[in-house]
Amino acid sequence: MSRGLFITGTDIGVGKTLITSGLLQALGAEGHTTLAMKPVATGCWQTPDGLRSEDAEDLIAAMNQDASYREVNPVALETTAEPIVSAIQNRFDFTTDELAAQAVSLARRADWLLIEGPGGVQTPITGKDTTADLALAIGFPVVLIVGLRVGCLNHATLSVESLQQKGLRIAGWIGNEHDGAMAELEPTVHTLEKQIPADCLAIIRWQPRLDRQRLARQLHPAARKISR
Ligand SMILES: Nc1ncnc2c1ncn2[C@@H]1O[C@H](COP(=O)(O)OP(=O)(O)OP(=O)(O)O)[C@@H](O)[C@H]1O
Ligand SMILES: [Mg+2]
Repeated sequence: MSRGLFITGTDIGVGKTLITSGLLQALGAEGHTTLAMKPVATGCWQTPDGLRSEDAEDLIAAMNQDASYREVNPVALETTAEPIVSAIQNRFDFTTDELAAQAVSLARRADWLLIEGPGGVQTPITGKDTTADLALAIGFPVVLIVGLRVGCLNHATLSVESLQQKGLRIAGWIGNEHDGAMAELEPTVHTLEKQIPADCLAIIRWQPRLDRQRLARQLHPAARKISR
């Protein structure tokens, strides 16, 4: 049976790609076949084969089934800006329904499809739709990556409220100390646990010397919880 998750975050740069890659590796280690998708990527660079995104390349390296680059990253935009700004600048026209159809079709080819959503929950991605609308069109439950830093209680609450307003199911949340060690981490996590009406799947600490394999191992319990 094919299953999927839509990974979003409390902000840009909170560790969505790193954690999605770790979850793909952890699910793979548990014996599942995996595919990934980065539907909309900005800041892509030109190659002889077309535009490429670092996030999409990371996800491709972490998944264990084959898919073409364009299947993983259908909308590759060259400028580093908000997705909607970049799409207008690059004259790239797409709809969330088209992206959702591609995601649903890709999901059939593996046990798990993990999708890294653009930006945060309310990031506008077309003139009409946000990241939350894309998640809704795809229909997968959402995992919220909470960037653990001062201010995250506000960002997490706003993100959860937006997801709930759209009627999206929150499969769980992962706290990630993405920005250096956080003072008062434990009481903050304790407060988040009370505020977010979903399971805390993992708390990932800041790694001054990032070890992706170690991070993936830390996500094994989360992968087990998700795939129960
Ligand atoms: N726990 C951590 N320890 C060390 N470095 C981290 C940690 N979490 C994230 N980072 C680093 O922070 C940066 C941002 O992470 P990442 O690219 O995964 O975020 P993102 O949410 O996918 O960003 P974007 O919104 O641009 O797609 C990367 O350089 C990543 O290696
Ligand atoms: Mg990313």
